[in-house]
This record gives sequence, structure tokens and C-alpha cells, in this order.
Amino acid sequence: MAAIAELDEMCFGREAWSAAAWEHEFERVTEDRVVLVADEGAVVGYAVLLVPPVEEDVVELLRIAVAPAERRTGIGGQLMTAALARCAGRTVLLEVAAGNESAIGLYGGFGFDEISRRRGYYAGGEDAVIMRWRETA
Ligand SMILES: CC(C)(COP(=O)(O)OP(=O)(O)OC[C@H]1O[C@@H](n2cnc3c(N)ncnc32)[C@H](O)[C@@H]1OP(=O)(O)O)[C@@H](O)C(=O)NCCC(=O)NCCS
Repeated sequence: MAAIAELDEMCFGREAWSAAAWEHEFERVTEDRVVLVADEGAVVGYAVLLVPPVEEDVVELLRIAVAPAERRTGIGGQLMTAALARCAGRTVLLEVAAGNESAIGLYGGFGFDEISRRRGYYAGGEDAVIMRWRETA
């Protein structure tokens, strides 16, 4: 958990989750959280999903990040593949800053579509884009 929190700090700076927030996520692993870790001797990436126990409820991708030095080598894609493998038959939603081209490129490549926007949602006035994935037959 400490290694993930450290990487989160590196990737998100002031928007990083606090140690208490990470503890909360890990405590909920037995309940509705899935934490995926890319480990190459050191933690190089992670993803956090909210997977409600009720099948009809949507899954939310809460977080995904890869260490800056390891980006564009396929780790984010591997994390997405592992995440979506747990979402068969379900709908997955996520929220991303409109200017986050790398994340939007990643999500689009996995078949996520923009379904709505929250105008000026983020500090600084950036829009939040809501994207949805549904498994196609
Ligand atoms: C988004 C992120 C997780 C992608 O991880 P990654 O390991 O670099 O992704 P991959 O190497 O598996 O790339 C998969 C695909 O994503 C897209 N992609 C990744 N980086 C991109 C970029 N900078 N610009 C455009 N598309 C990009 C591409 O389609 C890429 O496929 P390709 O390399 O065959 O073209 C990473 O950039 C990151 O950690 N960003 C900071 C954290 C963040 O913003 N997370 C999302 C919000 S929670």
C-alpha cells in the first residue's frame, strides 16, 4: 500500500489520495474494491475499481496510473485488460479530465465512449468527461 501511495503522489501530486484514503480503499477490498497492481520488482502501475456486489450495478474505474518512466510500454493497457476481465456483462463508468489525452486515448482504445460532460467540474474550470464501457457481444 505504501508503494502504491508513493506512486500515486508521483502521478497526481496535489490530487493524490491521502494515506487514510488508501487505507479506506484497501479495507474495502473484501467488500467492493478491486486493487490491481503492476509489479516489476517495484510497483509500476495500479488501478482501483469499485465493483458493487449487485450484478446490475455499474462498475466504476476510480483510478489508474503508471509510473512516468514506464509509460507507453503497455502497462496501462495490461491493467485495463485485467480490470475489464472482471467486468464481463457489466457497465463500467469513469470520469476523466477533458485535457487528459493519454487517459482518454487509453480508454478510447478499449471501447469506452463519452456519454456526458460536467462543465467546469475541475479546479481551473476543466470539464470532466464521463465515459462508459459495455462489453460487446
Ligand atoms: C493513462 C495512463 C495510465 C496510460 O498508461 P500507459 O502505460 O502509458 O498506457 P499504454 O502504454 O498501455 O498505452 C495504451 C494506449 O493508451 C493510449 N495512450 C497512452 N498514452 C498516450 C498519450 N500520451 N497520448 C495519446 N494516447 C495515449 C494509446 O492508445 C496507447 O496505445 P499505443 O501505445 O499502442 O498507441 C498513464 O498515461 C498515466 O498514468 N497517466 C497519469 C495518471 C492518469 O491521468 N490516470 C487517469 C486518470 S485516473
